[in-house]
Amino acid sequence: MVVAVTLAALLAAGPLRAEDRLVRMAVPDALVETGFLKHLLPRFSLKTQVRVQLVAPSEEAEAALGTNGGAGAKPVFQGAQGLWHISVLDDAHPGTARFVDWLSSEIGSRTITAYAPEGVQMFTLPEVQVAAVEEISFEGDAELGQSLSRSMCGRCHAVADDMHLNDIGSTPSFFVLRTLPDWDYRFQAFYALNPHPAFTQVEDVTPPFPEDRPSPIVPVAMTLDDLEAILAYVASLEPADLGAPLQHQ
Ligand code: HEC
Repeated sequence: MVVAVTLAALLAAGPLRAEDRLVRMAVPDALVETGFLKHLLPRFSLKTQVRVQLVAPSEEAEAALGTNGGAGAKPVFQGAQGLWHISVLDDAHPGTARFVDWLSSEIGSRTITAYAPEGVQMFTLPEVQVAAVEEISFEGDAELGQSLSRSMCGRCHAVADDMHLNDIGSTPSFFVLRTLPDWDYRFQAFYALNPHPAFTQVEDVTPPFPEDRPSPIVPVAMTLDDLEAILAYVASLEPADLGAPLQHQ
């Protein structure tokens, strides 16, 4: 009886076929060179008996890590100059899903944040940035959001139809940002994404500017309610018609 129960539990956890025990993952050199994956992957394999083999970004793979979060990509860690996303082939085998699940599990998270060559932590969790605004919905006051966008963001971004979209060279307009599949994630976390941390203060969320690095411009100072209003406004915008899929950065 006990044996049967144990076996059932094992089956529920999902035994993997031999061919599901190898995940090929495309990774850019910049990430490989940090040494982080040598810390991360063996710890995953030890737990699951699933091996992850690194391949070049051009090769066939079940999964890919990159800093461009395209459709369906999931943010997994932050560091080494980027917010890293994992994307997975639609019909990837179950071993791949194990890896994605493990990355966001408690033990996976601890493994990510424990990487500290020479005592310096190199990677943080993406949740750290958005945790404070998780409850944000698009039910803020869109009209207020429009005027806040004009006064706080309009210095650099074209935020409304009557603003010239090409005025500020490379700064993307809100209409262009709105076309990105993860636009909402980017707006929720904008204060943590460059160049904003240098000049943005969100009440009760961002740390004060470092004393030796005050804001180089008149700071953008706001509350989470303001951000919620801006999100509601951006949600209401018609995304720019770009003709072709946007290659952001
Ligand atoms: C001083 C100029 C400046 C101000 C003010 C500013 N931004 Fe930006 N923002 C930028 C630049 C430049 C970029 C492009 C960064 C890049 O492509 O790496 C950007 C990019 C963004 C992005 C995309 C970020 C990413 O990495 O995907 C979002 C979202 C954004 N801004 C939101 C806002 C909001 C909301 C406000 C107002 C509350 C605001 N910005 C105010 C300069 C500014």
